Amino acid sequence: MASTSPLTPSFSLMLLFLTRGGLTGLLLTHAAQFALDPPEDLKVSDPGRLGYLDITWSPPSSLVNVTQCQIQYQLEYFNPFGNTWAALRTTRKTYSAQFDPSKDVMVRAYTLAKGPCTDGVLRRSENYTELIQKAPSTGIAGTEAKEFTCMFQNMERVECTWTRSLRTPADSQQNLFFWYKALEQAVECPKYILSAGVRSGCLFSRNSLVEFSDIIFCVNGSSSEGPLKPVFASLQIQNHIKPAATEKLDLQAGSDGQLELLWENPVTRLPGYCLEWEVEHIHEGPDGKITMRTVETKETKLTVPTTLHMERNCFQVRSKLSTYCVDETLWSDWSNEVCHSEKEEAAPELKPDPAPVCIYVAIAVIALLIVCLSVWAAIKMKKTEPEKKLGSRLASLFAKTSTYAAGKVFSGKQTCTDAII
Ligand SMILES: *[C@@H]1O[C@H](CO)[C@@H](O)[C@H](O)[C@H]1NC(C)=O
Ligand SMILES: *[C@@H]1O[C@H](CO)[C@@H](O)[C@H](O)[C@H]1NC(C)=O
Ligand SMILES: *[C@@H]1O[C@H](CO)[C@@H](O)[C@H](O)[C@H]1NC(C)=O
Repeated sequence: MASTSPLTPSFSLMLLFLTRGGLTGLLLTHAAQFALDPPEDLKVSDPGRLGYLDITWSPPSSLVNVTQCQIQYQLEYFNPFGNTWAALRTTRKTYSAQFDPSKDVMVRAYTLAKGPCTDGVLRRSENYTELIQKAPSTGIAGTEAKEFTCMFQNMERVECTWTRSLRTPADSQQNLFFWYKALEQAVECPKYILSAGVRSGCLFSRNSLVEFSDIIFCVNGSSSEGPLKPVFASLQIQNHIKPAATEKLDLQAGSDGQLELLWENPVTRLPGYCLEWEVEHIHEGPDGKITMRTVETKETKLTVPTTLHMERNCFQVRSKLSTYCVDETLWSDWSNEVCHSEKEEAAPELKPDPAPVCIYVAIAVIALLIVCLSVWAAIKMKKTEPEKKLGSRLASLFAKTSTYAAGKVFSGKQTCTDAII
């Protein structure tokens, strides 16, 4: 009917409404000959793949002798990760999907038929078969791992970490298992990270996980008080990349009064267009006023015009992935700072070299000793000299010279030597 009539806007609207309301209502009149029953024996099973369940069913027994009609199934299941119902149609009698093992599993199945048995129209069973499987309530409440996060460090290795709940018994042993589609079964962490003797994370080499595939992680565990409550997480590791800090920065002052900062992409596995950069620029003017700004760029260089006069410019760089390449990203750590200074090196900035200081002190001490000796010698000479006038004159002259020498002691050894002779 709908295929032959020209569709006016109002008619198509009605059809849409009917389709959404349920095909059965529209099509029941055509093929009321036999009851289209929903599938039977709807089952889910977990072959140890952290919630990636196999759903199986059988055709309704009332359709076993119906050969001239094509039978399909409509499967609907609650996807706990998206918090939505997912629906699909298949001619097979099995389907696998990811469920959150800590939540209830809800699955519904309809039978669809099309062919001579239904007058050529697609019919869906009025009822569905439903399966609700309660989540196993395993583990002591409040003992689950907390703050589970994974970081794909520079696209070289993945590090997942978690913390313990306050209620986790002290003697607990936590385990991490993971699974993705290429694996037959969940696999345990290849290398645990220990902090203060207890497992707090897992280190994966680059090849133990795959990119662009949902990976399911489970942290469970046991204790003397019983099993710990397991925690599940699903993520794709390419959305958790943390680039390495930039190591090679080069700052050059051009003759045109410009500063050019160049750096290198630390993530060799990534094309340049996948990275975005943030440059922090700290500028100290001639008056000592410090200003800071950040510049975002897609290039691995930055040119900054400066007066190159009495100022100091410092830079550091960090990177993250572009949203063109991944959905989510983490900032790298900041690089080391590189600076260019045109400021006159002020006196306080000059750190005194310890070696010359020692030499100066030694010279001063020696000179002081010499002066003391000279004074002592002068006094002695004064005492032994009977000729008073000349003697006293000489002595005062000597003393004057000595005082002079003492005053000039820092200017050099020569003065002191002269004084003693
Ligand atoms: C299917 O056909 C067989 C033999 O033709 C018959 O014995 C059986 O009862 C039929 N089953 C149903 C559900 O009609
Ligand atoms: C659908 O289920 C209801 C109640 O479970 C039942 O009364 C009704 O007959 C069923 N309809 C069909 C077409 O089997
Ligand atoms: C943790 O989970 C794995 C994978 O499902 C399972 O084999 C193991 O027995 C669990 N361990 C505990 C202590 O529950």
